[in-house]
Amino acid sequence: MKIEDYYSELDSKRFGINIAKVNDFNFQNYSSILKELKLKGIKLILTRVNSEKIQLINALEENGFRVKDTQLTLNRKIENYEIIKYQLKDSNNITISEVKECEIEILGDIAYNAFQGYGHYNMNKLLDSEESNMIYKDWTIRSCRDKNVADFVFVAKVNDDVAGFLTLKNINSQYGVQYLGCVVEKYRNFGVFRMLINECMIKGIELNNNWQQTFLLSINYPVISSYLKLGFKISESNHTMHCWL
Ligand SMILES: CC(C)(COP(=O)(O)OP(=O)(O)OC[C@H]1O[C@@H](n2cnc3c(N)ncnc32)[C@H](O)[C@@H]1OP(=O)(O)O)[C@@H](O)C(=O)NCCC(=O)NCCS
Repeated sequence: MKIEDYYSELDSKRFGINIAKVNDFNFQNYSSILKELKLKGIKLILTRVNSEKIQLINALEENGFRVKDTQLTLNRKIENYEIIKYQLKDSNNITISEVKECEIEILGDIAYNAFQGYGHYNMNKLLDSEESNMIYKDWTIRSCRDKNVADFVFVAKVNDDVAGFLTLKNINSQYGVQYLGCVVEKYRNFGVFRMLINECMIKGIELNNNWQQTFLLSINYPVISSYLKLGFKISESNHTMHCWL
C-alpha cells in the first residue's frame, strides 16, 4: 500500500488535522510506516489490530499507541434462517419499512442522541467531542443517501413515531453487513432492535446472500445480547488504537 493511501480524507476534514488509518501493521512494517507518516505531516494514526496479536499491540503501545475501544465481529449464516415475526413486548403497533426522504433528518437526530460519547473518537479527549458526536449523525445521513455507504436503511415506527433504524450494506453476492443502528430511549427493551436485525436478515435472504456480519463494541451488552439471541456468533475481536505523532 502506498503511504498516501493511508490518508483519511473524511477524518482529516472533520477534525481539521491530518489523520491516517492504517489497518495492516505488522512487525516488519510498523516502524517504517510510522516514520513515513510523520514525514508526510500526519498528526494522528488510527489503527485496528486483532486482539490476539498481543506482541504487536505491545510494540505499538511502546510507540505511543493507546487502545480506544474493542470491537467484536459477529457472523451468522442466513441460508437456513427461519423468518420470525417479532412482537413488541407492550404493543404491536410497530411497522418496519425502508427510509423515506422526509425521515432522513429525523434518523440523523436520533443517531446524534443515541451515540453521544460513543465510540473510539469520543475516547480520544484531544479530539473535539462535538465533532466526534457528529460522526454518527453524518454517517446515518450518508447511509440514507449514498449506496457506497449502505444499500438499505430500515426504519422502525411505533404508530407514526420513528423508534429506530438499522443499515445494511450488501458487500457481494455472498454476504451483507448490518452496520449502524439505534433505538430511541423510550422504545428500548421492547424488542425493536431485534425486529430490525430480523428485517435485515429477511432482505439478505431475498438477495440470496449466504451470511451476514456485524461489528459491535465489546461493552455494548444490550446489542450483543440481541444478536446472540438471533443466532449470530462472535468470530473475531479487534482493538482500535490511536497514536499522536
Ligand atoms: C442497543 C440498542 C439498539 C438496543 O435496542 P432495543 O430495541 O432496546 O433492543 P432489544 O429490545 O431488541 O434488545 C435489548 C436486549 O438487551 C437487554 N439489555 C438491556 N440493557 C442491558 C444491559 N445493560 N446489559 C445486558 N443486557 C441488556 C434487554 O434486556 C434486551 O434483551 P431481552 O429482550 O432478552 O430482555 C439501543 O439500546 C440503542 O440504541 N443504544 C444506543 C446505540 C447503540 O448502541 N447502537 C448499537 C450499535 S450499532
